Amino acid sequence: MYNSKITGLGFYVPDTVVTNDDLAKLMDTNDAWIQERTGIKERHWIPEGSEDTSAIMGVKAAKIAIERSGLSKDDIDFIVFATLSPDYYFPGCGVMVQNLLELPTVGAIDIRNQCSGFIYALSTADQFIKTGMYKNILVIGAEYHSNGLDKTTRGRGVSVIFGDGAGACILSRSEDTTKGILSSHLHSEGKYADKLIVKSPSIAHWVPEIIASNGEDISYFPYMDGTFVFKNAVVRFSEVILEGLHANKLEASDIDMFIPHQANLRISQFVQKKFGLTDSQVYNNIMKYGNTTAASIIIALTEAWEKGKIKDNDLVVLAAFGSGFTWGSIIIRW
Ligand code: ACO
Repeated sequence: MYNSKITGLGFYVPDTVVTNDDLAKLMDTNDAWIQERTGIKERHWIPEGSEDTSAIMGVKAAKIAIERSGLSKDDIDFIVFATLSPDYYFPGCGVMVQNLLELPTVGAIDIRNQCSGFIYALSTADQFIKTGMYKNILVIGAEYHSNGLDKTTRGRGVSVIFGDGAGACILSRSEDTTKGILSSHLHSEGKYADKLIVKSPSIAHWVPEIIASNGEDISYFPYMDGTFVFKNAVVRFSEVILEGLHANKLEASDIDMFIPHQANLRISQFVQKKFGLTDSQVYNNIMKYGNTTAASIIIALTEAWEKGKIKDNDLVVLAAFGSGFTWGSIIIRW
């Protein structure tokens, strides 16, 4: 069996920065509430008229990752794309990337696991590499949230959290069995699907019904039971990190860099404290980007790596929890 390692990283966020004060002009909220509850100071939103979409941002991030990997785009033999905000209901963003990057007719799949999307995507790519089926897989997490949010006071509990952006990595076959992805652990609990959900449009509840409601049906906006999600997140984050550490006979003290999904700074800080990690062992950037869902871990991983915070042989732990519920962890020897 082969091993797989990350050979290239890249991310892209739109230029437009939306501060908490900017949001306070749209809805009844304020900088103090948002910072205190979430840690977020600002986020990047795609401006009106921009060409950016989840697929296009994913391509921009992918181009950086491919260049840094030293590979040519023709070396990529599979695409895994994670998003909850695809360009189209169908087909998925993976095939958009195949076309936009002008790749040969390689396979492409979309992963629909929301905040855990990148963990699921990287784990999926890892299995294809380890079995020997593919050599170099392009893994993308991208979200275009801003066009789908309720930017009024009614939607403030959700809309202040989310940001737009994309990250990408190349996962490559490696003969070195001591380094690369050591393990991934994935979970789901669908009985809580309605705690964090965008219900419409769905086949069961199609566009004409929404139009017929004359604005009363708002099931196309994300709904979140924030407190319930928060309570589950802190428990599941901790469980799945421990599961990964135990599977590799490692301790929390072995962690060099923990990169949590950027859902809420308070969740990250809770987990940091629970595992006794110092500030230098955890990377957070939710302050600048908000929750970019499937993109958040790969954006944070790329930024931490660009800043020289991840070194050869470091033990890197990635973990996420989100809508589904779904959650997971990946342990990497860099
Ligand atoms: N500005 C000002 N006041 C607000 C805002 C806002 N933006 N949003 C809500 N409030 C008010 C509420 O109306 C409420 O007022 P009330 O007490 O008068 O009713 C009060 O603030 C408290 O609201 P809560 O929702 O209880 O606030 P909470 O402390 O739970 O924070 C938050 C909300 C930040 C959403 C938090 O619950 C959270 O982070 N949850 C977890 C999010 C998460 O992990 N999501 C998973 C990933 S996302 C994915 O998978 C797509």
